[in-house]
This record gives sequence, C-alpha cells and structure tokens, in this order.
Amino acid sequence: MNTILVFALVVLAATNAAILPSSTRANLIVGYVSTGDRLLYRSYVYQPARPNTIQYQDIVYRGNATTRITAIQATEVGATQYASAWILSGGLSQNNVTVRFQSARGYGYYYLFDVWGR
Ligand SMILES: *[C@@H]1O[C@H](CO)[C@@H](O)[C@H](O)[C@H]1NC(C)=O
Ligand SMILES: *[C@@H]1O[C@H](CO)[C@@H](O)[C@H](O)[C@H]1NC(C)=O
Repeated sequence: MNTILVFALVVLAATNAAILPSSTRANLIVGYVSTGDRLLYRSYVYQPARPNTIQYQDIVYRGNATTRITAIQATEVGATQYASAWILSGGLSQNNVTVRFQSARGYGYYYLFDVWGR
C-alpha cells in the first residue's frame, strides 16, 4: 500500500515538472478564426516589472447583441516573463469576454490580445 502511494506521488511530481514550462508561458488561445470572422478588438496589455509583486489587470470586451466571439488569443510579446492569461467570464459563442492578465512575482507582462468574431 505504501509503495503504491509513493509511486503515485512520484508520477504526479514528474507530471507537474513536465507541464510547468509550457503552462508558465501561458498564452491563451481558444477557438478558431474562420472565413468571415473579423478582428473585433486588439490591444497591447503591458505592465512593467515591479519588485516582489504580482500584478494583474482584467480586460473586458463587450460586443453588441448579435456579436458572437469565435476566437480569443492572448500571446506574450517578446521574451517570456512567465505571465499568465485566462478567461474570467464570457468567452466563445458569447458577446463578451473578460480576460485576466497576471504577472509572475517580480515580473511584468506584455501581451497582444485579440478577440475575433462575427
Ligand atoms: C454588431 O457587432 C458585429 C460584430 O460582432 C458587427 O458586425 C455588427 O455590424 C454590429 N451590429 C450593430 C447593429 O452594430
Ligand atoms: C456576457 O454574455 C453572456 C451570454 O451572452 C450574458 O449572459 C452575460 O450577461 C454577458 N455579460 C456581460 C458582462 O455583458
């Protein structure tokens, strides 16, 4: 029993180690841009580094009643700063989305943020 438990923990640790590098460079890419979709919103989301601080901001995009979001893309510009971006509310097939951009402690962030839809 003890042997099985230890084995499980080791696998979990190895998996975390393998996943960390890609998940710390957390580009947010959901949905697909297809023919007829337009760039509804684009902005550069930038915050300089601040010592020993985790910084964040939320960007809200709101379309009109008929807007349907088909893709949301937040990609780090330049060298990674180990920042993260994720959807807080709204999203694909809706007319609005709120994305949080968050720095690693002691770093800033610099993202290109695009919302596509029709
Ligand atoms: C609503 O937004 C879409 C883009 O999502 C645009 O193509 C359309 O013209 C807008 N409609 C109105 C009534 O503003
Ligand atoms: C976002 O869209 C959803 C579904 O279309 C709607 O229920 C919600 O109220 C909207 N939120 C905001 C903040 O506009």
